[in-house]
Amino acid sequence: MALPLLPPLSSIINTLFFFTLFFPKYVSSDVEGYSACEPFSCGEIDIRYPFWSSDHQQSYCGHPKFKLDCQQDNVTIDMMSQRFHVIDIDQTSKVLKMARLDLWDDPCTDEYSNVKLDSDFFNYNSNDDDYTLLYDCGPPVTYTSSVNIKGTISFSCPIDGGFRDAFFVSSTDVGNLKDLGCKHSINVSVLREAVKDALQVENVLEKGFEVGWIGVDEGQCDGCIKSGGRCGHNVSKDAFTCLCPNQQSYDEVCSKSQTSSPLAAPTPKPTPEQALSPPFGPKFQEKSPHAPSMYSSFS
Ligand SMILES: *[C@@H]1O[C@H](CO)[C@@H](O)[C@H](O)[C@H]1NC(C)=O
Ligand SMILES: *[C@@H]1O[C@H](CO)[C@@H](O)[C@H](O)[C@H]1NC(C)=O
Ligand SMILES: *[C@@H]1O[C@H](CO)[C@@H](O)[C@H](O)[C@H]1NC(C)=O
Repeated sequence: MALPLLPPLSSIINTLFFFTLFFPKYVSSDVEGYSACEPFSCGEIDIRYPFWSSDHQQSYCGHPKFKLDCQQDNVTIDMMSQRFHVIDIDQTSKVLKMARLDLWDDPCTDEYSNVKLDSDFFNYNSNDDDYTLLYDCGPPVTYTSSVNIKGTISFSCPIDGGFRDAFFVSSTDVGNLKDLGCKHSINVSVLREAVKDALQVENVLEKGFEVGWIGVDEGQCDGCIKSGGRCGHNVSKDAFTCLCPNQQSYDEVCSKSQTSSPLAAPTPKPTPEQALSPPFGPKFQEKSPHAPSMYSSFS
């Protein structure tokens, strides 16, 4: 006889009640957006708005210009067709520290390109200094490697099967080296701090440079976070959006009536035991001795 295999009617009712009680407030597109945009770490980098990573998040979690790539704990960002290694993100001062990937472990290159920043969003800051890399200079190595300008580092690069002199020099001093007849140059921003005592140009370049960021609705984002939300960017509207934990956003902040609710001081999601604790638990148990079987019907 098949009947005993069906769960008791009372447990079905309890199950439905359980769902109507706890489910509806977690179901809405806003909630999806909020949880999809949870900040996460890639290696030592904490990724949150305006930054986002397409490997782990939806595009609305950040601004299109702040898309990061997270590969085995290495974070990179593409700007104006160049790739950079992300060294640090300081959300408080809104400063991104990054290094050119093409010069990351080798200052020698055959693509002599300067960094271009999208100045609507990124700008060099006062910790940076302008330096110049000079390549393919003068007569063969040994002749010119005695150049002695304070802060200038000489190195050599393989060119046409031999080695040619190259120099790392402050852009204000670069004029003093014009007699060397260097054929190529790259302007680089570096950390002033990194140049001090550096003996090798690699050690300077790998420490990168800093850019401050702007233009991503910082004020609106602060308000959104204070109201309990997470900042996002609506790609189709190309506009800031505030993602709220369990209600629709209102005027780019999460509505006030909800912020003093459990969200402001998050309570843990109810465990089955807690869900059945008074006043619900005992009442059900009185009426239905089968109440616990509602869980076995899930398994
Ligand atoms: C990550 O970066 C480290 C150091 O820069 C490098 O040794 C390693 O190969 C990189 N890993 C990947 C997957 O790129
Ligand atoms: C490189 O830097 C020098 C010296 O600061 C400057 O005169 C020159 O215009 C810069 N070149 C480019 C392409 O930015
Ligand atoms: C973006 O805005 C459009 C139009 O208002 C809306 O339909 C869509 O749901 C929004 N997307 C997000 C992720 O907020």
